[in-house]
Amino acid sequence: MKPGIKKIAVIGAGIMGHGIAQSFAQAGYQVSLMDIAQPSLDRALSLIESSLATLAQEEVIDRKAIPTILGRITPTRSIEQAADDADIAIEAVVEEKDVKKKVFAQLDTHCPPRTILASNTTFLNIFDFVETSRPDKVLIAHWYAPPQIIPLVDLVKGPETDQTSIELMAKVLRDMGKRPAVFKKYVSGYVVSRLQFAFQREVHFLLDHDYLSPEELDEAAKWGLALRMMVVGVVQRFDFGGLDLSARNLERPSFLPTPLEYKPKKIFELVKQGYLGVKTGRGFYDYKGRTEEEVYRERDIKLIKMLKALKTI
Ligand SMILES: NC(=O)c1ccc[n+]([C@@H]2O[C@H](COP(=O)([O-])OP(=O)(O)OC[C@H]3O[C@@H](n4cnc5c(N)ncnc54)[C@H](O)[C@@H]3O)[C@@H](O)[C@H]2O)c1
Repeated sequence: MKPGIKKIAVIGAGIMGHGIAQSFAQAGYQVSLMDIAQPSLDRALSLIESSLATLAQEEVIDRKAIPTILGRITPTRSIEQAADDADIAIEAVVEEKDVKKKVFAQLDTHCPPRTILASNTTFLNIFDFVETSRPDKVLIAHWYAPPQIIPLVDLVKGPETDQTSIELMAKVLRDMGKRPAVFKKYVSGYVVSRLQFAFQREVHFLLDHDYLSPEELDEAAKWGLALRMMVVGVVQRFDFGGLDLSARNLERPSFLPTPLEYKPKKIFELVKQGYLGVKTGRGFYDYKGRTEEEVYRERDIKLIKMLKALKTI
C-alpha cells in the first residue's frame, strides 16, 4: 500500500465499479463503493464475493482473508459519505457526459482538496467538459474487464493534470500489481480499443464470408496472433520480422485488406435474433444453457492461470 493513501471512493457499482472496488480492497485499502441504485450495490457485493471465492480456489488469495477484504468495502448511496476523507476517487458511472460532469462536480465539492479525481471513461474526453477547482488532480484511469484480474490500466493526463498526480496514481496501481500505461495526452479509444477497431473489420469479413467458423478463427487468433503478441507486442514485432520487409509490404501490400467502408453483416443478424452473447446464452458461440456467472468464472479461471504462469498475479 502507498503510504498516505488510505481510502478510495469508487462511484458507480456496475460491471467495472465493483471490480475496481474489489481490486483496491484486495490491496488493503478502505473502499467506499457508491451507487444511486440499491440493486446495483447488492449485485456488486454478491459478484465481489463470488469473484473472491474464485481467486481463493485458484490460490491467488487466502480463503481466510475473504472476510477481511469484504470488510474493507463499505457500500453506500451517499456520495458525501463516499467522498469524505477519500484520497482517490474513481468514477465508473454510466458513459454519459452529463452524468459524469455532475459526478465530478459532486466529488469536487465533497472530497478533500488533496483527492485525485479519476474517470474510468471509455470514449469521453472528460478534460473538455468536467469542471472542478482542481484540474491538476483530474485524470483518466481506464480499467479493463474484469478489472480485478486484467493488469492494464490506461492513465491519461489532461492539459492541466499535474505530473505528480499521474505519478502517484501510477505508483498506487503498480504497487497493487497493475500495469499502467501512461498517456501523455488523451486519444479516443486509448490503445486497446483502437487496435480492436482496426482488426474487427477483418474478423467480420472472415465470418461473413464463411472462410472459417468462429471457433477456428479464435484458435488462429489465440495460437498465432495473441501468443506472439504477448511476447513481442505490436511494435517490437517489426524488429523481429525486419523493418525492410514491413516497409516493402506497406508499399506493395501482399494481400488485399478489407475496405474501410466494409459493413459487417452476421453480427447485425445475430443482434436482430436476440443473440447478444454470454448474457443471452448465445452470440457467435452457443453457451448451451450455462449461466452467465459460470461462463465468466471459466474465463476468469483461464485468465488467472495465465497470469500465474506469467508471475503477474
Ligand atoms: N463494461 C466495460 O467493459 C467497460 C470497460 C472499461 C470502461 N468502462 C466504462 O466504465 C464506466 C462504467 O461502465 P459499466 O460497464 O461498469 O456500467 P454499468 O452500467 O454496469 O454500471 C454503471 C453504474 O453507474 C450507476 N450510476 C449511474 N448514475 C450514477 C450516479 N449519478 N452516481 C452514482 N452511480 C451512478 C448505475 O446505477 C450503474 O450501477 C463507463 O464509463 C464505461 O464506458 C466499461
